[in-house]
Amino acid sequence: MLVVDFGAQYAQLIARRVRELQVFSRIVPHRISASEVAAMAPSAIILSGGPKSVHVDGAPTLDPEIYELGVPILGICYGAQLIAQQLGGTVGRGMRGEYGRSVLTRHGTSSLMDDSVPAEHDVWMSHFDAITDVPHGFRCTASTPDAPVAMLEDDERRVFGVQFHPEVVHSPYGMGVLRTFLHDRAGCKPTWKMSSVITDQIERIRSQVGGRRAICGLSGGVDSSVAAALVHRAIGAQLTCVYVDTGLMRKGESEQVVETFRRNMGIELIHVDAGQRFFERLAGVTEPEAKRKAIGELFIRIFEEHTGGITEAGFLVQGTLYPDLIESGGVDGTAEVIKSHHNVGGLPDDMTLELVEPLRDLFKDEVRALGTELGLPDEMVWRQPFPGPGLGVRIIGEVTPERVAVLQEADAIVRAEIAAAGLEREIWQAFAVLPDIRSVGVMGDERTYGHPIIIRAVTSDDAMTADWARLPYDLLERMSQRIINEVPGINRVAYDVTSKPPGTIEWE
Ligand code: XMP
Repeated sequence: MLVVDFGAQYAQLIARRVRELQVFSRIVPHRISASEVAAMAPSAIILSGGPKSVHVDGAPTLDPEIYELGVPILGICYGAQLIAQQLGGTVGRGMRGEYGRSVLTRHGTSSLMDDSVPAEHDVWMSHFDAITDVPHGFRCTASTPDAPVAMLEDDERRVFGVQFHPEVVHSPYGMGVLRTFLHDRAGCKPTWKMSSVITDQIERIRSQVGGRRAICGLSGGVDSSVAAALVHRAIGAQLTCVYVDTGLMRKGESEQVVETFRRNMGIELIHVDAGQRFFERLAGVTEPEAKRKAIGELFIRIFEEHTGGITEAGFLVQGTLYPDLIESGGVDGTAEVIKSHHNVGGLPDDMTLELVEPLRDLFKDEVRALGTELGLPDEMVWRQPFPGPGLGVRIIGEVTPERVAVLQEADAIVRAEIAAAGLEREIWQAFAVLPDIRSVGVMGDERTYGHPIIIRAVTSDDAMTADWARLPYDLLERMSQRIINEVPGINRVAYDVTSKPPGTIEWE
C-alpha cells in the first residue's frame, strides 16, 4: 500500500504502523500522478498529515484523478481535510484548533470502528482548521469539541478520513482504525513478515550478483552487520567482509565482530588490525576536526589496500536503510542519492563497484528484527549508535593507546551498569568521555592528581534532539565507585546534564 507524504515525519510513522499490521508500505511524494499510482497497483492509499492549513498558498494537493482509480483511500488529519476540500465538502478557516488529547464522540455506526469501540474515547489531535461539511456521498460518524467532522466515510467509494492521528499511541483505538481500513475495507492480506523479506531478498541478491564476488565493509554496527549476514545467506563464499579495526573501538567489540562473523557464521572476514597505524597518525593531533579527518582518510586508505586485491569483485554491500533514502531525497527525487555512509568512511568517487543494498526497504526496528531472525547476537542487533571515528571523538586532546585503554575500561563499566539496571533499550546512548584536565583528590591517605571521567547518557528518538537521561542516583553512584576503584588514574566522575540542543550528544 502507498502512504502519500504531505509532511515527512507523519508519513514515516504511518508507514511503520502499516508494516506492524503486516502490510508492505511505501512512502510516495504528494506530487505522484494518477497514472504513476495506477502503474504501482496499490491495494490501498493513506494520505498522511502535514502542514497546518489546506487554505494557504501552495499547500500540497493530490492529483484528483487518484480518487477515480477505485483504490480505497484513508486520509489522516491534513489528508482528511484534503479529501473534504477536493471532493466538494468544506474546511472551515480560522477555527479554534486542537492540539493534544481530545474526546471523540461517535455518531452511529462506522465502517472504521466496530461497535466494541466506546461511544466516547480519547484521540490525539493536531489541527487548526476543521472540516465543517462532508462532501456528497459521505457520512460524518464522529466529532470532537473543536472538530465537527472528526471522521468522514463513503462506503461506496471506500474513501475515508479521520481528523485525529490514529498512528500515535495516544489514540488508543487508532491501530484498530488502521487495521480495519487495511484488512477489512481494503482487503490487504496481512502477509508481510521478516521471513518473507529474507526469502525475497535472497532471490534478488542472487540475481544481481550472479557468480561474481561482493565485498562488505563491517563496522560492528547494526546495519552493516545485518546486511552482511543477509548477503552471506544468499551468496555464501562469494562474499568477503573487511573489518578495519582502528584500535578506537569499545572494549571487546573487535573480538565480538570476529567471533560472530568468522567463527559463528563462517563468513570470510579480513580483520585488519590497524590500531598501530591509527595511533601513529593521531600522535600530536588535538583539534577535533583534524582528528576526524585523519581517522576518516586513513580508514579509506586501509580499506582500499585490503579490497584492491580481491579479484573479480564487482559489488559492494551497504547497509543503507529506508529512512536514509527518504532523508536524502532518494524516494522523492529522480536521482537516488546514496548517503555517504559514516561507517565506511565515505567511499571514493572513482569506485567501480556496483552497490548491493538489501536493507533499503526497511526501517531500523525491522532491520533489528531481521538481524535476530538471521541469528545475530543481541549485543550486535541492539547496539547503540557509535560514531565512525570511534573513541577518537570521546577523548578530548591527544588520542594515545594508553588513553584509549583508560576510556575503554570506564566505558565498559558504564555500559555494564546500564545493562544490569535493565535500561539498555530505554537509553539512546550511554558512554564515558575522557577530558584532558586533571584535578586534586584524595584516595586512602594519598593526595591524587588525576583525570575525571564524564558520563553521558541521553534519551532520543533520532539523535536530532536529545535529553539527558534521568538515571537513578544509586546507578550513578555505582558507576562512579566502580570507575574510580577499577580504572587507574581516574579520581573523579561527573554526569553531563546538558540536553541537545544546546549540547551535542558526543563530546569531541
Ligand atoms: P552529535 O554529537 O552530533 O551526534 O549530537 C548525533 C549522533 O551521531 C553520532 N555521530 C556519528 N556517527 N559517524 C557516525 O557514524 C560520526 O562521525 C559521528 N559523529 C556523531 C552520535 O553518536 C550520535 O548518535
